[in-house]
Amino acid sequence: MSRAPFRLAPLDVTHERTMFNSDSEPLNRYLREQVTQDVRRRVAACFVALTDKQRIAGYYTLASASLLLADLPASTGKKLPRYPTVPAVRMGRLAVDQAFKGQGLGGALLADALDRAARSEIAAYALMVDAKDETAAAFYRHHGFIALPDSPHTLFLPLATVRPTLETDNKAR
Ligand SMILES: CC(C)(COP(=O)(O)OP(=O)(O)OC[C@H]1O[C@@H](n2cnc3c(N)ncnc32)[C@H](O)[C@@H]1OP(=O)(O)O)[C@@H](O)C(=O)NCCC(=O)NCCS
Repeated sequence: MSRAPFRLAPLDVTHERTMFNSDSEPLNRYLREQVTQDVRRRVAACFVALTDKQRIAGYYTLASASLLLADLPASTGKKLPRYPTVPAVRMGRLAVDQAFKGQGLGGALLADALDRAARSEIAAYALMVDAKDETAAAFYRHHGFIALPDSPHTLFLPLATVRPTLETDNKAR
């Protein structure tokens, strides 16, 4: 299978958004019509995978969030301080253009989101997602995410389990 090289970068106004065509029309529409406003208002950050021709092959968004301690599995909750909420980063949206599906790009975008969240100086316990359907939830479970017991389409992955690719890692030794 041919694997296109991708460059991951924050979305900027020069990126062509209208051609993006994933399996999900709401996620296509969001990229076309809504995301730049959300970025401007600082309610979401958006990162894109670009081909060598600057085409958007995939994207995801991140924003601050919180999880209710009481919603977490008991085995997780008992290891955390007794505050009502636990800080998290929400990956609000993730989509790969149909032309690039099945080439590892969705997994690479997810890894990039985990890496960004784990590298942040602002603490967050987990990356969380609201999967739009059971297929999406299966994708996240495949990558180690844990479902909330009473809300199986909300899933989280503790960031302490992620080894961030800190540039300083290499320099520190
Ligand atoms: C879900 C989506 C992002 C996956 O992107 P992709 O580039 O096709 O996925 P990848 O090729 O990176 O797959 C990575 C791994 O996940 C697995 N995988 C992909 N979809 C899966 C699913 N629905 N259930 C379980 N595993 C899945 C692949 O088999 C692969 O496994 P491997 O690394 O062990 O070989 C893409 O199909 C998409 O954009 N769907 C429409 C929008 C959507 O559903 N977004 C989800 C967020 S709500």
